[in-house]
Amino acid sequence: MAVALVVAAGRGERLGASGPKAFVTVAGRPLLEWSLDALRAAPSIASVVVAVPPGVEYPGAVAGGEHRSASVRNALASASAGADDVVLVHDAARPLLTVQLVEACVAGLAGFDAVVAAAPVTDTIKEAGADRVVRRTLDRSALWAVQTPQVFRRDVLARALAQEDAVLAAATDDAGLVEALGGHVGVVPAPRENLKVTTPLDLRVAELLLRERGA
Ligand code: CTP
Ligand code: MG
Repeated sequence: MAVALVVAAGRGERLGASGPKAFVTVAGRPLLEWSLDALRAAPSIASVVVAVPPGVEYPGAVAGGEHRSASVRNALASASAGADDVVLVHDAARPLLTVQLVEACVAGLAGFDAVVAAAPVTDTIKEAGADRVVRRTLDRSALWAVQTPQVFRRDVLARALAQEDAVLAAATDDAGLVEALGGHVGVVPAPRENLKVTTPLDLRVAELLLRERGA
């Protein structure tokens, strides 16, 4: 069994809604509620801790921090240690989470320090300088677009989050912090549908997919 941490404490600046992104209505419900449904229905999840923006009232939730890693750290601090000490981290911004993906990620942890849900990249990715001059084209066959859930051995995640604040502030995911310490991280194939709501376009796509699912 695992404890799930859901980070929902971001401001959602790129979405540009009037309030925090996790509470924006999508397909009739707050964004956050969709992933909570999947986690509560998942057999491998024993409990869920949510981090929300400081000042937002949400039952049972803890206050998030200045950056994403600080929100994860705050949530981890109030998560009770489970029998086998496995922690799943999920972004509230990914409302298309399914029970199937949760189960695949938790099961996938065997033999690793951490695993990340990820989809094979379909675009060709080039690296370019600030001058827009292309430096190189990456080998797409080895590239994965990383999502959440990310599942960790609890001791490994705690150590990753104990790094200095500048390291944490620069991280866009928790598995990267584990990699920085030499951890053994694996990918779990995930559908591209498990998209992150970042911009208004993403919100429109998520709305369509969630309505389709409910139909
Ligand atoms: N997050 C968080 N605490 C923060 C920053 C982000 O809990 N201090 C969470 C967000 O709520 C989101 C996830 O981390 O579920 C991924 O972050 P992102 O998509 O960047 O969301 P926001 O930070 O809210 O959006 P933006 O960067 O556009 O402001
Ligand atoms: Mg952000």
